[in-house]
Amino acid sequence: MNRKEIMAVLAGITTLTMASASSAADSDETVKRGEYLARAGDCVACHTAPGGEEFAGGLGIESPFGMIYSTNITPDSETGIGDWSEEEFAAALRDGKRADGANLYPAMPYPAYAKVSDEDIHALYVYFMEGVEPVRHQPEETSLSFPFNQRWGISAWNWLFADAEVFEPEADRSEQLNRGAYLVEGLGHCGSCHTPRGLAQQEKALDDNGGDDYLAGADLNDWWAPSLRGGEGGDGRGLESWSAEEIAEYLKTGRNVHATVGGEMTSVVAHSTSHLSDEDLGSIGLYLKSLPANPAGKDATTADQRREASEKTQAKLSAARDLSEGERLYLDNCSACHFNDGMGAERVFPPIDGNALANADNPSGLIHTILAGAQPPSTPTIPAQLPMPGFAWRLSDDEVASLATFVRSAWGNDGGAVNADQVADVREELGEASLNRAVDPNGELNETDGAK
Ligand code: HEC
Ligand code: HEC
Ligand code: HEC
Repeated sequence: MNRKEIMAVLAGITTLTMASASSAADSDETVKRGEYLARAGDCVACHTAPGGEEFAGGLGIESPFGMIYSTNITPDSETGIGDWSEEEFAAALRDGKRADGANLYPAMPYPAYAKVSDEDIHALYVYFMEGVEPVRHQPEETSLSFPFNQRWGISAWNWLFADAEVFEPEADRSEQLNRGAYLVEGLGHCGSCHTPRGLAQQEKALDDNGGDDYLAGADLNDWWAPSLRGGEGGDGRGLESWSAEEIAEYLKTGRNVHATVGGEMTSVVAHSTSHLSDEDLGSIGLYLKSLPANPAGKDATTADQRREASEKTQAKLSAARDLSEGERLYLDNCSACHFNDGMGAERVFPPIDGNALANADNPSGLIHTILAGAQPPSTPTIPAQLPMPGFAWRLSDDEVASLATFVRSAWGNDGGAVNADQVADVREELGEASLNRAVDPNGELNETDGAK
């Protein structure tokens, strides 16, 4: 070999090693991006059984047709998706198709994931193949009764209702607004809980082109998932009174000056939104603020009327004379943290004047919170937050009913009355075990003998 040839070979080798180094860095980068997108899509919440390995499946999801079990999406070749091609993975996410061609049940939010871009599907695929440990675990199989066990029947449902296509940015929106829409409508699948459902259990709209049902609020397993339409035009409550920054803060830390997260949203914040970048959360806030609010009902109160009512309740509680049972119970059990004005203490005890949970048509979430207390999630920015203790051991069904009725009509609130049967139902559902416990300030659930 002459000198020239040797140089050429050496150059070839260096280019080769450089090429493979840069593709490894490329792939690390892609794995990281895929991991972030898996957070945005909250895959872990559904694909992990309580106490089970992450992504190994087996969580039972209740549906009106029976229990649907999530699958193992680790790259194990026998029990997971290790042998799946990227095309098969994309078809599962966007079209609800299994690798064997059968339809998935829409408990997997593919009607929303249909919006996810090719580039993001690719990053997710690379993450699940290279960034997730394979786990050999065969989750329980879903076996619904006839006719719901006929997976081919879902094709008609898909044809009617799962009609979303890959997200197209709209030219008259800023880049940030398009980004927010993409995250909320697509991976975030916020509508699967916040959009009301129709007779066939379909979400009534999959994006804001589908009219004002989109994110208009829905009853979710007996807990109100409030409207996320934060623009103007409604009664001034809820996200209408939050700024885009306050929405972002709630999604990042589980709280802001208006509310503390509860119910199934706790898991969404803990596993998904608290891990998103400030920029993405800002875009989500901006997008939600761009959706016109639900029009106010004809009985809706005005902000002035609510302010006047708040002052009345506060004066009555402070005078502490001729109290109703509900008012007395509030002073004895709640006012130490939520105060007579129902406004709590900023970012420590949430306000219950104007709170979505207290005003929901269905009072179950409020009853649940009074009986069992609540623990805000631990998030990267605020790892430990003060919990609310439960009162099940202390208050009878009648007392909780009077207290909840008071809370729902006090200050500017206008939820309806609560009766003892409704409390008994929630108490039964929670079960004895969860109720004889209180939450200690370290956030651990502890058994107590009720003497606390
Ligand atoms: C709201 C719950 C939920 C979320 C969130 C969710 N999944 Fe699923 N997923 C399911 C359920 C339930 C099934 C099984 C449905 C069935 O058996 O028909 C499933 C099935 C799948 C399948 C098909 C696997 C197989 O073996 O058949 C894949 C792949 C998958 N999900 C990937 C993902 C990814 C990736 C994410 C996050 C971007 C995700 N899922 C988020 C509930 C969910
Ligand atoms: C698994 C169901 C579920 C999903 C998915 C979900 N949410 Fe929620 N969300 C809820 C529930 C339930 C509440 C009520 C929480 C409470 O009572 O404290 C809630 C409350 C909220 C609130 C507070 C509203 C208020 O007026 O107090 C915001 C903001 C919010 N969600 C935004 C989102 C966004 C953005 C997404 C998507 C990235 C999302 N949610 C996805 C169930 C869900
Ligand atoms: C020791 C302080 C404390 C006491 C006493 C207390 N709470 Fe709470 N409360 C909290 C904290 C902290 C939270 C936030 C917990 C969470 O949402 O995870 C909370 C949350 C709530 C919420 C949900 C607010 C939201 O934004 O979702 C309601 C409603 C509520 N409390 C009502 C009551 C009522 C009614 C009583 C009396 C029976 C009561 N609280 C007693 C501390 C307290």
